[in-house]
Amino acid sequence: MEAIRVGLLGIGTVGSGTWHVLNRNQSEIMGRAGREIKITMVADHHTERAKAVVGGQCEVVSDGNLVVTNPDIDIVVELIGGYDAAKDLVLKAIANGKHVVTANKALLAVHGDTIFRAAKDKGVIIAFEAAVAGGIPIIKALREGLTANRIEWIAGIINGTTNFILSEMREKGLDFDTTLKAAQTLGYAEADPTFDIEGIDAAHKATLMSAIAFGIPVQFDKIHVEGITRLDSLDIRYAEQLGYRIKLLGITRRMENGIELRVHPALIPAERLIANVEGAMNAVLVKSDAVGASLYYGKGAGAEPTASAVIADLVDIARLEAVDPEHRVPYLAFQPDAMRDTPILPISEVTTSYYLRLKVKDQPGVLADITRLLADHSISIDAFLQKEPREGETLVDIIILTHQTQEKNINAAIAQIEKLRTVAGSVTRIRLEELE
Ligand code: NDP
Ligand code: HSE
Repeated sequence: MEAIRVGLLGIGTVGSGTWHVLNRNQSEIMGRAGREIKITMVADHHTERAKAVVGGQCEVVSDGNLVVTNPDIDIVVELIGGYDAAKDLVLKAIANGKHVVTANKALLAVHGDTIFRAAKDKGVIIAFEAAVAGGIPIIKALREGLTANRIEWIAGIINGTTNFILSEMREKGLDFDTTLKAAQTLGYAEADPTFDIEGIDAAHKATLMSAIAFGIPVQFDKIHVEGITRLDSLDIRYAEQLGYRIKLLGITRRMENGIELRVHPALIPAERLIANVEGAMNAVLVKSDAVGASLYYGKGAGAEPTASAVIADLVDIARLEAVDPEHRVPYLAFQPDAMRDTPILPISEVTTSYYLRLKVKDQPGVLADITRLLADHSISIDAFLQKEPREGETLVDIIILTHQTQEKNINAAIAQIEKLRTVAGSVTRIRLEELE
């Protein structure tokens, strides 16, 4: 059988990983795909660097248009990132009848509907395993492995950079900026690292998983996003003393009246397996009715882990391109006529538990006032901790863990607690997920 010919857009971190793994494991990969997968053309702004990677074994150009319009290319692999040029090149590739593999979660989360529609109309495949959790085959698991299940919720550590930062801050007491620089040097961070630390990258991935899990359109504009930049290392320490770890979680959950879709730091019990995912590792916990809980763990970023997912998609296409488009696995797991418009719930409607930290005057009646205000909003307390005043201070830190309540209730209670004369400053509120 003839080789399937691949054009690569971008040969930076993931692109060069793809080149190296494909060449190193070619015979193994060919044994699985049934035919050779050959990168025949590469486009990258940095042509000299690209030539050094490919060592004269394929054509190198600087303009991606030459790849997507080349009649001798069967599959275009988009690894340049970003929205504008990537969207333009992917849509041109589709218009020219090419199958597309991309690791670009930002592109799919924001423009997925346009791209999937264009691909469906043209009968080509869009594959994006590398876009969520790097080397972990979570798209395959959700779309195919768990196809018998009704998925209840997903909670994932799906950004390596932030998990690396939180781990280093907790374990080594290092500061935020030092750990962020290390993550950038190691190639985990996005070109714009605010995407990582503000939770946007995790939100792109959570949005894609939510669509696949629940058969809803990709709706990045509806996700609630909070990053880790406002997290205080004090809370990481207090959480640990209470038996919890703080992680940046991407969560999507099926509720009676809609779907929760959110990214934010959350306390999780330290004894959960997922709480022990450290460094740049990723993990996705899926709760579904038939299997129960299943956990997917591995490297979510880096050259070769991500290349592994890109090549898995190339092998799928090599096997499936001859299959009638109607009989292929649907891009978003559900057949188009089975997709639903289930609403994404506003964050005020989300139900979870909370960690609250308050600075209060150490005097009689303070706690009674606070617990009364919580009770007025039907919020019950699960645990309570009062710290000794810090040296030279008369105020004490109080930490309260609540049982589950709706976000609008806790916000209303906090607004009243902050008005008490015995409470100083604002209340720190972090969501808490038991993940049982
Ligand atoms: P890199 O920045 O390392 O590589 C991208 C390369 O493409 C750069 O050389 C870049 O040049 C070049 N490029 C950008 N735009 C164009 C263009 N229009 N025409 C030609 N060349 C262009 O990125 P990564 O490899 O890290 O990431 C690629 C994609 O993979 C992104 O979507 C990212 O989100 C995703 N991803 C990355 C992971 C990782 O671990 N790094 C993990 C999972 C997904 P220049 O520098 O001049 O822009
Ligand atoms: N910047 C991302 C991360 C890369 O840190 O996880 C993988 O998508």
